[in-house]
Amino acid sequence: MGCANTTKLKLSSMKRSLLLLLSFLCVLPLCLLNGWPRGFQALTAINPSASTNPIRSSKNVTVLLWYWPFGRSFRLRGDVCWDLFGIPRCRLADKRSMFSSADVVVFHNRELVEGRQKLPVDLPRPQGQRWAWMSLEAPVYNGNLRQFANHFNMTITFRRDADVTVPYGELLPKADEGKLVEDVPQDKSSLVCWVISNYKSQHNRSKVYKELSETVPVKVYGRWTKRPLTSRALLATISHCYFYLAFENSVGKDYITEKLWRNAYQGGAVPVVMGPSRDDYKAVAPPNSFIHVDEFKSVKDLGKYLQQVAEDNKRYSEYFTWKHEWKVKLSTDWKERLCKICSQYHSLPQHKVYSDLEAWVNASST
Ligand SMILES: *[C@@H]1O[C@H](CO)[C@@H](O)[C@H](O)[C@H]1NC(C)=O
Ligand SMILES: *[C@@H]1O[C@H](CO)[C@@H](O)[C@H](O)[C@H]1NC(C)=O
Ligand SMILES: *[C@@H]1O[C@H](CO)[C@@H](O)[C@H](O)[C@H]1NC(C)=O
Repeated sequence: MGCANTTKLKLSSMKRSLLLLLSFLCVLPLCLLNGWPRGFQALTAINPSASTNPIRSSKNVTVLLWYWPFGRSFRLRGDVCWDLFGIPRCRLADKRSMFSSADVVVFHNRELVEGRQKLPVDLPRPQGQRWAWMSLEAPVYNGNLRQFANHFNMTITFRRDADVTVPYGELLPKADEGKLVEDVPQDKSSLVCWVISNYKSQHNRSKVYKELSETVPVKVYGRWTKRPLTSRALLATISHCYFYLAFENSVGKDYITEKLWRNAYQGGAVPVVMGPSRDDYKAVAPPNSFIHVDEFKSVKDLGKYLQQVAEDNKRYSEYFTWKHEWKVKLSTDWKERLCKICSQYHSLPQHKVYSDLEAWVNASST
């Protein structure tokens, strides 16, 4: 992220770049001390990496979405990636007639595995064109991927080792404007809260919940207990809880969803997490901002710990110290995910084929 880039930016985005630069300067000493947090990597990815190569950088990368995920389309008028996300030289398209000129063609997994969409295997694939497999689901919900061996050149998913990483949320360093320290949320009336719609007693998370609720009170919301929350009420409700059970529906490497990023962090409750390994969480989440179920010998111990921390104002507020330096950015926009391809495009390997996509997707959490 050099100064050369900054000078090229349009006036309209000068403020944004200045903020980026400022945050870079502010966070640098912190990073040198603590190692580069992953939120920061994500931030640098937004910058035009293409400009390192002036010949390549003058050309647009054309990303063709073969069909919209879940059938919901969005307008792609104008220079979407630049206007909305500050990503230059990126053309998004959803017209199949663009196939022969597309650098990347993107296929969302759900429609493929359900057979509602097909790969255009009978069209001659232009030299150098990459096919991208895209999914935001946990491995178990991706279906049988054996049929897609040897078709894809890149992956777009929440995994840190994907070619294009599209997490549900990430950290951004706070610029000066945000240094106003948010107070630790007060007005807590429940120790532990859980929002659950799809309860299955055989789920690991249900077992942990059951055991936990035998040790400490757990307030349960959602369709399962017929206490559904509107999306507006969700965060307000969670803000009255000391702890929030951010339990993922299944275990997958780096599979960390809005349960952590939105419900817990934005709701102002300390997340108790269960899903991938502690290391996966540590790689993306702020230090001392969450409690992993695996940290305890037993669920009973976890319950006791939560009770102790809630009774100790100082210890509890330490779980919010990260908010001085970081803010959470949620990612929910397919357009943004597609634009991100362009920021990664020039660092993709010359040649890559996912010869066993099934195995790659099911790689275990480390
Ligand atoms: C690149 O793509 C953008 C967005 O579609 C478009 O506005 C622009 O004219 C294109 N530039 C070139 C050189 O093709
Ligand atoms: C359930 O939890 C146990 C103990 O933590 C673990 O060994 C097991 O792999 C988990 N099973 C699933 C399906 O997550
Ligand atoms: C993409 O995958 C196809 C099919 O396996 C392969 O023929 C092609 O060489 C790959 N292209 C790149 C750029 O890796």
